[in-house]
Amino acid sequence: SENNKQFTIAFSQCIGDDAWRETMLDEMKRELSFYPDIEFIYRDAGGDNQMQAQQIKELLEHDIDLLIVSPNEAEPLTPIVDSVFQKNIPVIVTDRKTSSSLYNAYVGADNLAIGKLAGQFIVHTLNGKGEVGIVTGLKGTSASIERRKGLLDALDSSGIVRVGVEIQSDWERQTAYTQAKEHIEQLLEQDIILAFNDQMAFGVTQALQEAGEYNKRVIGIDALPGEGNGLSEIVKGTLFASMLYPTGGTEAIRTAMAILQRKPYKRDNILGTVVINQDNAGLMMLQSNKIQEQQKDIDKRQELIVEQNKIYRNQQTTLNVLITS
Ligand code: FRU
Repeated sequence: SENNKQFTIAFSQCIGDDAWRETMLDEMKRELSFYPDIEFIYRDAGGDNQMQAQQIKELLEHDIDLLIVSPNEAEPLTPIVDSVFQKNIPVIVTDRKTSSSLYNAYVGADNLAIGKLAGQFIVHTLNGKGEVGIVTGLKGTSASIERRKGLLDALDSSGIVRVGVEIQSDWERQTAYTQAKEHIEQLLEQDIILAFNDQMAFGVTQALQEAGEYNKRVIGIDALPGEGNGLSEIVKGTLFASMLYPTGGTEAIRTAMAILQRKPYKRDNILGTVVINQDNAGLMMLQSNKIQEQQKDIDKRQELIVEQNKIYRNQQTTLNVLITS
């Protein structure tokens, strides 16, 4: 039947060496373990636009049935992703987008809404008055562009909270740290700081601490579970708050399977978000720990099923030998 046909899913990741994206890949692999017949090809572009375009070109030679892509920067990746779509190979865009609408589905949170949510939270925290320092992500990434727009919309409509310093960064902790050191005097004058992801928030916090400032409120985005990530830093009190940004790995594979199996699917798969701060971080952590335990269980069961299948196939072979001899 159509359902048992072998498919190849390719995933082109803009940058793999990063806790948030490792979580995305783990989620994908777990969901894929339910479909042992699917071939999965993964490519990590290391944050390089040209490399990512090249890798997608090479993936096309593998006769792939579907492409999942998280484009590094929107403009440089648009032509190649468009060309995949135009070859009638379904395309799922995840987290970051290209500049075109030539894709079958988007899976990810709404970054404009996340920027707005952050802005509203800041206005609320500052009691409607003050200056916010912002540290943006890599310039051409849709996530940064949309978060910035959403933030400015929310601040504008508040009337009295405005952006003071703006540091154009690149999503990386180390870069944000170095830049924060360079702009430390200005940052110290801000009432609150929003870094466009938690990693950059950590870099900024480190620079502030080295300047003797331990109480500046620094907000991030991601709130990733796991030791050393956003959620646990909020619990510890080193990160003031973060906007939850789900990785969507599970949903991306589910959408891919729906497309391949010709089942109905949605073009826009918008994942929910919420402000995480001291009030709810503890609860979130308990829940994410519990989910992790359950996932370990699922992994174990999947391994057992694979084992059982092997045994079954061996027995079939033995049986065939017995019957034919
Ligand atoms: C990870 C990351 C996240 C951020 C997202 C934006 O590479 O920088 O921290 O939320 O990408 O695309």
